[in-house]
Amino acid sequence: MKHFLKETDLQSHQVAEVFALARDFKAKGGRHTPPVLANQTWALLFFKSSTRTRVSFEVGIHELGGNPLFLNRNDIQLGRGESIEDTAKVLSRFVHGLIVRTYDHSDVERLAAAGSIPVINALTGFLHPCQIYTDAFTMAERWAPKGGDLLGSLKGRKIAFLGDTACNMANSWVLGAGLFGMHVALAGPAGFEPMAEFLALAQKEGFGDAYSFTTDPMEAVKDADVVYTDVWVSMGMEDDAKERLVQMAPYQVTEELLGAAKPDALFMHCLPAHAGKEVTQGVLDDPRCIIFDQAENRLHTQKAIMAVLAQQARA
Ligand code: CP
Ligand code: NVA
Repeated sequence: MKHFLKETDLQSHQVAEVFALARDFKAKGGRHTPPVLANQTWALLFFKSSTRTRVSFEVGIHELGGNPLFLNRNDIQLGRGESIEDTAKVLSRFVHGLIVRTYDHSDVERLAAAGSIPVINALTGFLHPCQIYTDAFTMAERWAPKGGDLLGSLKGRKIAFLGDTACNMANSWVLGAGLFGMHVALAGPAGFEPMAEFLALAQKEGFGDAYSFTTDPMEAVKDADVVYTDVWVSMGMEDDAKERLVQMAPYQVTEELLGAAKPDALFMHCLPAHAGKEVTQGVLDDPRCIIFDQAENRLHTQKAIMAVLAQQARA
């Protein structure tokens, strides 16, 4: 059984297929995509809030001919102590795929190990791979000539990731940079270097050189093709909010910082954004800001990921 729990879980031909399908799905529009999930139900099991991920998966499953089933952890017996393993085994008897948003990354690994259906990581405290594939696709749309080589257009590009450099998005960007032949320059406060547990994974994947860390935001944005940020207080980090807002203030993406990147650099953010905190309103209003293309592309990219996993599950 094939799962998508981290960026490197797909083989290289499947990565290429995801990008090609996403471009095709986007060009054709929702109602014209092949019904690869016909007569299937895919469940979304969420332990955390979501706007983009929940809506794009629900709409995407519908557009692929399937039926989405949203399950809030607290509404099912999992919230009252039923085990992850029994939940996976029971859901596997009813549904054809499982999309999970949770705190502990081990939850998605345990669901995948115990069940018999594909599991997709829709964000853990450790990684957010659906977002990275979408973001890379969104960049490639800008950089590849029409009908040209999407993945090839990413090679050698530099992303500056500013702010909470120890969060799931920063981790995922290190894996994404390694996978797509890019470099991510992380700039955040001392003490927010990628955690040892994550570095062990990055090194195991051979991506130890795909990132650098600095406390100087100007150094990170120099020659960057993309300036990227995320919230300073991720879900689950609310107790540290006050301290984080002070520690991360020097890493706010301002017009000055964006202006110090390449002249045609893009600004990206996985969203939700907080104007006046991790980014200024001026940057959000700048034509180089492509955050809503990113949000839309969640739909097309995740449909492509589901189509590839469903095809493999059938094989
Ligand atoms: N970027 C992202 O995953 O957004 P949501 O939390 O709204 O799903
Ligand atoms: N780092 C953020 C991403 C939200 C999409 C969080 O985990 O809350």
